[in-house]
Amino acid sequence: MRTQVVIIGAGPAGLLLSHLLDRAGVESVLVERQSPDHVAGRIRAGVLESSSVDLLTDVGLGKRIAAEGDEHRGIYLQWTDSPRAVARAVARAAARAEARAEAGAGAGAETQRHHLDFVDHVGRSVWVYGQTEVTKDLMEARQAAGQQAYYEASDVTLLDVDSERPSVTFTDSHGVPQRIEADAVAGCDGFHGPSRTAIPSASRRTWERVYPYAWLGVLADVPPSTDELIYAWHPDGFALHSMRSATVSRLYVQVPPEEDIAGWSDDRIWDALATRLGHGRNGWSLQQGPITEKAVLPMRSFVSTPMRHGRLFLAGDAAHIVPPTGAKGLNLAIADVTLLARALSAWLVDGSRTLVDSYSEDALRRVWRCTHFSWWMTSMLHTVPIEKGGDDFDRQLQLSQLRWVTSSEPGAAGLAENYAGLPIGF
Ligand code: APR
Ligand code: PHB
Repeated sequence: MRTQVVIIGAGPAGLLLSHLLDRAGVESVLVERQSPDHVAGRIRAGVLESSSVDLLTDVGLGKRIAAEGDEHRGIYLQWTDSPRAVARAVARAAARAEARAEAGAGAGAETQRHHLDFVDHVGRSVWVYGQTEVTKDLMEARQAAGQQAYYEASDVTLLDVDSERPSVTFTDSHGVPQRIEADAVAGCDGFHGPSRTAIPSASRRTWERVYPYAWLGVLADVPPSTDELIYAWHPDGFALHSMRSATVSRLYVQVPPEEDIAGWSDDRIWDALATRLGHGRNGWSLQQGPITEKAVLPMRSFVSTPMRHGRLFLAGDAAHIVPPTGAKGLNLAIADVTLLARALSAWLVDGSRTLVDSYSEDALRRVWRCTHFSWWMTSMLHTVPIEKGGDDFDRQLQLSQLRWVTSSEPGAAGLAENYAGLPIGF
């Protein structure tokens, strides 16, 4: 079989690329390892930058976002602190057994919650609309367009990507071997897919930072206790209150990376969330409800360059991973494929190679900006346990940084510009 672009991976990057290429008159075939139900059921990110919403709207996918998404002007940043609380957290980390018995930051602590309004600072908002919904919209659009896709494909292999005739081979869901020749291969197969390693290691360079903590994330059938997301610094560790709809909350607590989820009963999760998010402080309360999903998510920053090798183009998690603080992963994948669709259609429809030649450089400019922003938000908000090298000096720097971004106009504007998102071409 022959097509113009073989796309490996039907996550948000692959699905959107296929949609954008279709609109530009470029034929593509999707090859995905999992079943459609598995792809549609994955619970992932939930915040779209305004440039992502504009792009999805421009390509006919804005209807449900407008009807069911929730526009947010900004976020809350908060911290719970007292000199005594920090000292106790240090002592707690040194004596973990006693730690469990202690009640959070203690009675002497103060919680400060500040609203950071992106619209006031940079004129842009964000939208809460789950990746699950984006995926559903994209899968429906692909089906309506009659675009070809192979789900449950195994042994996906990339061949001759640095030649004029690249191809992809795999075994389809009926056990039949397949081979697709194409003008280009788009590697949208996430961090573990085969595309990145199809670039010879001598031509590749990678950068990585693994953080000494993870997130335990839950989905709960309970209306959000807040109108906008709360990012909370706490001596016990970070917590985030996010949401998916008027009836479903998404919440996270920082845990050690090797944490066994079996040790986290629903009660323990709600207790940690209540303490870290400040239940009962300043008249705010956290509503609890049935937890329907829970998982521990590792955190890392990772960048692999170049994002193009011959006729292979990488996009999304296949080329880079950001920690979730700041909600950049999905938006970065959307930005990558927007650039890639423009580049491939300029080449395959108009015969101009300028944009494919600059694709890697153009995409990486934004990738490194988001890599820095996600690292910075992560470093500002997570407490590193003493036994992993954290200390009170770090904590004072974090609190100073939080005070600065919530009280200085340029400090707030910098965070707002990055969170609400830079223009796609940045
Ligand atoms: N063959 C075919 N498909 C594969 C293979 C393989 N060997 N390996 C992985 N895949 C598929 C996965 O099953 C998945 O559907 O590639 C897809 C990659 O999708 P994602 O991991 O969602 O990556 P991407 O589309 O780049 O997602 C972008 O959204 O929520 C965020 O964390 C997510 O930051 C990421 C972003
Ligand atoms: C989420 O809703 O899942 C979410 C929101 C904001 C983040 C990370 C995750 O920074």
